[in-house]
Amino acid sequence: MLKPLGISAKLAIVTGGSKGIGHACTYELARRGIEVVIAARDVVTAKAVAQDIETHTHTPIHVFQLELTEPSQCKLLFEYAAHFKGHIDYLINNAAHFAPNDTLSLDEEEWLKTLRVNVFGPYICAKEFVRLARAKGREGTIVNISSTSSKLQISNRVAYSASKAALDSLTRSFANEWANYGIRVNSVAPGHTNTEGIKASIQDGFLHLDEITKPIPMKRLAEPNEIAELVAFLCSDDARYITGQTIFIDGGRTNSWIW
Ligand SMILES: NC(=O)c1ccc[n+]([C@@H]2O[C@H](COP(=O)([O-])OP(=O)(O)OC[C@H]3O[C@@H](n4cnc5c(N)ncnc54)[C@H](OP(=O)(O)O)[C@@H]3O)[C@@H](O)[C@H]2O)c1
Repeated sequence: MLKPLGISAKLAIVTGGSKGIGHACTYELARRGIEVVIAARDVVTAKAVAQDIETHTHTPIHVFQLELTEPSQCKLLFEYAAHFKGHIDYLINNAAHFAPNDTLSLDEEEWLKTLRVNVFGPYICAKEFVRLARAKGREGTIVNISSTSSKLQISNRVAYSASKAALDSLTRSFANEWANYGIRVNSVAPGHTNTEGIKASIQDGFLHLDEITKPIPMKRLAEPNEIAELVAFLCSDDARYITGQTIFIDGGRTNSWIW
């Protein structure tokens, strides 16, 4: 049974929680009665999404305008989110920047931006999350949204692949450092997912659906809710002995030699 507004005991922050996979994560957590703070740059979209999810799940959803590359804004995000329940239970480091270039054509500023959004931002947020959990004497869970690109070297993704490999490395370091605080940290690594962004790239001819699905044993894209359900599982007590892992959710793609 859905819980009425205002009685959920747990709270999550989802960066980029208003679009694509992040949107699905916000919805899935809210559906399970977990209050969510969406942190993103575009607050007009985020507020509309928050209202829609609140209406459907009867769980409060809050919005914080965040530029993830600014550590001071990340710190303010945690102050804002802690205000609702006095603690934060889950951090979903989902927001990312994608620079579609190979090594020689990649602008150096784009390289830095990719690393700032995809690695530095999650690192700052994870530190703030753990500082707060420690101060409150609470346990918690972090899920970093990685990608099959952390493992598969695909042309035109040099910065993105490096950033996701670094994020998976952070997952393992954090898991080791914080296990004794009761903080679990895992990565979820999707393959191509049927988000608005991917649909637009297919429509624009930047991606070709048959080429993407050919090497996937299951011959289809992931759906955003399939990724979100794994994230929610990793947040749940059912996953209480899982930490430091990168879980590929890719229809078998990273296990396949089909080309
Ligand atoms: N879609 C896929 O096929 C796929 C596959 C593998 C992995 N992933 C991973 O899944 C995650 C979500 O991907 P997606 O495709 O769903 O992304 P998306 O639709 O492009 O959404 C990205 C989100 O990140 C936020 N964001 C981007 N830069 C930001 C910044 N500097 N500060 C704060 N927020 C920022 C955006 O919100 P604002 O624009 O409002 O800031 C947006 O909500 C990413 O980590 C991505 O690498 C996606």
